Amino acid sequence: MSFDRSLKIAPSILSADFANFGAEIRAVEAEGADWIHVDVMDGHFVPNLTFGPPMCAAIRPHIKTVMDVHLMIAPVDPYIDAFAAAGADILTAHLEAGPHVHRTLQAIRGAGCKAGLALNPGTGIGDIEHLLDMVDLICVMTVNPGFGGQKFIHSQIEKVRRLRQMIGDRPIHIEIDGGITPETAPLMTQAGADVLVAGSAVFKGGSVSNPAPYGDNIRAIKAACATMA
Ligand code: DX5
Ligand code: ZN
Repeated sequence: MSFDRSLKIAPSILSADFANFGAEIRAVEAEGADWIHVDVMDGHFVPNLTFGPPMCAAIRPHIKTVMDVHLMIAPVDPYIDAFAAAGADILTAHLEAGPHVHRTLQAIRGAGCKAGLALNPGTGIGDIEHLLDMVDLICVMTVNPGFGGQKFIHSQIEKVRRLRQMIGDRPIHIEIDGGITPETAPLMTQAGADVLVAGSAVFKGGSVSNPAPYGDNIRAIKAACATMA
């Protein structure tokens, strides 16, 4: 099968109702979510705490699309097998999370997951040249990781443009995470991104009992990208 570079929206459940993840996931997928983005935070690599492998295993049966797990944790390696066993399709580790990212990416693929590599806004792309054949996804953070609802950092547009050139024909997704709205999304798809994580912009205005706004919000982001294409 050829590599799918079409636009995908990955709602982050960080902005969903924490008391109702299963229903939230079913609702947002029914409303058009392409992937489900799961933000794992350890209160150490980032200044916030969310959830771990048991929580991922609990929500897995509710995800019909792709379980995209973003690990904002350090160290990463001791937890890879547990997140793989919890059913992650993609496991994304941060370049900044440790000195042996090459080993981490090997371990992620070895555990049967697609391997993602995330870059904080302050990290350049120079250091990833020798990792390109080991990754299935590169996640460019457009906020400093830790919280939803932050403001998009515009300096990352040029980084994505250069990354897109560096990737060439390789089958690697470029994912953008943070501050995505109908205004910022087209800047990133024009620069070369194909996966847009969106938390607050997808879940705002809706709920499990009134999920239609989720669909409206997803379509608004996609429409804005199509207009600027
Ligand atoms: C931030 C997380 C994001 C976050 C995005 O650390 O990695 O996935 O949930 O939220 P918004 O779309 O609200 O910026
Ligand atoms: Zn994320």
